[in-house]
Amino acid sequence: MKILLDCDPGHDDAIAILLCCYSKKIDLLAVTTSSGNQTIEKTTRNARNMLNFCHKGNIPFAKGNSSPLIRPVQVCAEVHGESGLDGYEFPSYAINTLPYPASELIIRTVKANPGLTIVTTGPMTNLAIALKANPSIIPLIKEIVLMGGSTGEGNITKAAEFNILVDPEAADICFKSGIPLRMLGLNVTRKILVNNHVMEEARKINTRGSDLFVKLMEVFNKNQREFFGLPAGPLHDPATIISLINPNVFKFEKMNVRIDTSFSELAGKTYCSQSEPYNCLVATEVNLEEYWSEIYKHLRRCI
Ligand code: BDR
Ligand code: CA
Repeated sequence: MKILLDCDPGHDDAIAILLCCYSKKIDLLAVTTSSGNQTIEKTTRNARNMLNFCHKGNIPFAKGNSSPLIRPVQVCAEVHGESGLDGYEFPSYAINTLPYPASELIIRTVKANPGLTIVTTGPMTNLAIALKANPSIIPLIKEIVLMGGSTGEGNITKAAEFNILVDPEAADICFKSGIPLRMLGLNVTRKILVNNHVMEEARKINTRGSDLFVKLMEVFNKNQREFFGLPAGPLHDPATIISLINPNVFKFEKMNVRIDTSFSELAGKTYCSQSEPYNCLVATEVNLEEYWSEIYKHLRRCI
């Protein structure tokens, strides 16, 4: 399965990167970064660190737009810390990116690999720029698989989930593009909690990957408890990759999903309806046992 990952690491994005690198079913063609959990400089450094950590430093890699399409930069330091990936000390790798922006790498990668899947685990700014700049790539994309939105309540506001809230205009462009979409939103990802049992299982694995996981999740859990009042941190972003490598983990339903692009308290809301023509498969159930067994399997491989 050929994929391009656009991400904003971010603790849960970092684990999504690790899964892409150690999955035997995924051919990771390129990685791009978005401004989201932290500024573009920081998410780019974190993504680069993760790729090097996973021995994939040679994957085509480009830095994304420094801000959402029309709204101001909004980061989530309360959850991901000042670095955007607090909790793990990486060696100081060089941050070499391609000499063109993420949107250009998306266009080039799609043209060279028709039929690829695009996974987004941050605000959808780069993909929206690419689709607007070069609509001829639209029919070449098999599917967009995203972490974002919710069939119910949001997390940053009552109405909206972070990735959609930060750049609703970008999400709107992607959702209206006609490209098949698969959305893994808070209604399922908030059930995927890194609880004490998960932490114990991960500690037992005792690989480089599990060591990184435990260190990152200790900080992530603490911040999620303090900021959102959750019992543990929800591991949102790897849901995208797990849905691709194991079709038994999530149940999807056909829905019409529309993005609220107003400047009201409803901004970024994903309206999900089953009474209008569908444009998206929306995850509605998750098998937690299978989800965690995929996580453990990939942590075991990261030696
Ligand atoms: C999403 O926002 C970010 O904080 C996480 O990385 C995830 O992509 C959850 O709302
Ligand atoms: Ca993310």
